[in-house]
Amino acid sequence: MPHHYTPEQVAQRAQELGPWFHNISLLGVATAPGHFLGDYPSSKWRNFENAIPQDLRGMTVLDVGCNGGFYSIEMKRRGADRVLGIDHDEGYLRQAQFAAEVLGLDIAFEQMSVYEVPRLNERFDLVLFMGVFYHLRYPLLALDILRQHAVKDWFVFQSMLRGSRTVPAIAQDYPFSEKAVFDHPGFPKMHFVEHSYSNDWTNWWIPNRACAEAVLRSAGFTIQSVPEQEVFVCRCDQAATLHPLPY
Ligand SMILES: C[S@@+](CC[C@H](N)C(=O)[O-])C[C@H]1O[C@@H](n2cnc3c(N)ncnc32)[C@H](O)[C@@H]1O
Repeated sequence: MPHHYTPEQVAQRAQELGPWFHNISLLGVATAPGHFLGDYPSSKWRNFENAIPQDLRGMTVLDVGCNGGFYSIEMKRRGADRVLGIDHDEGYLRQAQFAAEVLGLDIAFEQMSVYEVPRLNERFDLVLFMGVFYHLRYPLLALDILRQHAVKDWFVFQSMLRGSRTVPAIAQDYPFSEKAVFDHPGFPKMHFVEHSYSNDWTNWWIPNRACAEAVLRSAGFTIQSVPEQEVFVCRCDQAATLHPLPY
């Protein structure tokens, strides 16, 4: 039986579950009205919502690092048969569960790290990997795991990007004596954050744009569109050579 909340009860519970990173409207109650990025992630979602299928009926979705559930909710609203949101943070999962309950949406949430995804033993038509990559110490491991164990078709990737936005042509190979190419600002690069960035010690590796594109291709994806500066809508490249996982 769905629980029916009054707006006052929603406001009370949302506050108890806070602070929220996702601003979601629950019976008119905003969960993160003072977000430092504005109406987030709605403002981001508006820029790429048309780049992924409008009608997800018959499809399954995995939302990796689902946080307060914003994208899981949007995927369920598009009619996906099954939506599973995973996050390693149980506080965020409690928020997501509450948001889905208030909205009367049947979404599964599970506490799990991206590195544990193989134990789901399930492939999803669409996998969202938004805002997690740069929070990982082993970002390529996560990409390879998702490509090889979870993605059936669509892969929607978002990363914070820093450094040059130019994407120079990179040769297949260079002689050992070639050094200058590495100093090109657009050469694929990840910036390693030893201590903290933006007051957040969980920011570890921040790629430039060329690097984000290169790691996606290298993991076995083709980039279909870049509808928003940081968002890459990909499909599985069925012809790609997949790199063996280290275990
Ligand atoms: C910046 S938030 C992005 C949330 C949401 N995907 C979005 O794009 O708005 C990063 C989320 O990833 C989660 N996260 C970080 N490391 C993770 C890991 N190893 N496995 C699963 N989730 C992780 C965090 O708990 C947090 O909810």
